[in-house]
Amino acid sequence: MGLFKNFVSQTRKPEGVLGKMMVNGMNGGHAKMADWGMSHLTIVRPEHIIELGCGGGRNAGELLNKYPNAKVTAIDYSEVSVQKATEYNSEAIKSGRCKVQQGDVSALTLPKESFDLATAFETIYFWPGLEKCFTQVAGVLKPGGVFMIVNESDGTDEASLKFEQIIEGMKCHTINEIEAALKSAGFSEVQSDHHKDKPWITVIAKK
Ligand SMILES: C[S@@+](CC[C@H](N)C(=O)[O-])C[C@H]1O[C@@H](n2cnc3c(N)ncnc32)[C@H](O)[C@@H]1O
Repeated sequence: MGLFKNFVSQTRKPEGVLGKMMVNGMNGGHAKMADWGMSHLTIVRPEHIIELGCGGGRNAGELLNKYPNAKVTAIDYSEVSVQKATEYNSEAIKSGRCKVQQGDVSALTLPKESFDLATAFETIYFWPGLEKCFTQVAGVLKPGGVFMIVNESDGTDEASLKFEQIIEGMKCHTINEIEAALKSAGFSEVQSDHHKDKPWITVIAKK
């Protein structure tokens, strides 16, 4: 595998030295888009949050800042991501407000119906089957719980479609595809927004 392909493929599951470099970059690289996504969470007052595919853990930290009374569990199937997210949120972990765990979104082992809010930033491209994974998310959300997805690709932008060709297992989704999978997984009241200048999307649904 060429170095470029190897490096960009670290977005799917960061591993080794290149994975560490990628995770360090993701925290800063996704910040603006993640903050735009989080600005859509206006009516939610969560106590227990699950941050799925947390990468370097920056967004778990921002959720802790946004909701000072909430606790955040951050999960990722990459050991490198778990290490970085643990380091990034060390203070909150010490104070008991944050947990970082290794786990796969396609087979969640967390307690059922225990979270008010689930978030997924820049990660569903790599999930093995949207409907299957969204059903897992629905399982750990309380009734009435909210699931927010934020992507920098709207499934049609040229740059992301190029990466889709390079990164094995990556799939960019349109808002319509995400909405349909959410509904099949049992979510309702699906709302979406598209950034006015960029291909960024936010999709929010209720269990
Ligand atoms: C592009 S990174 C995004 C990281 C972070 N959410 C952000 O916005 O910076 C995608 C992350 O999703 C994780 N991921 C992908 N598929 C996953 C799965 N099935 N279960 C858990 N984590 C997954 C990867 O390991 C990686 O850390």
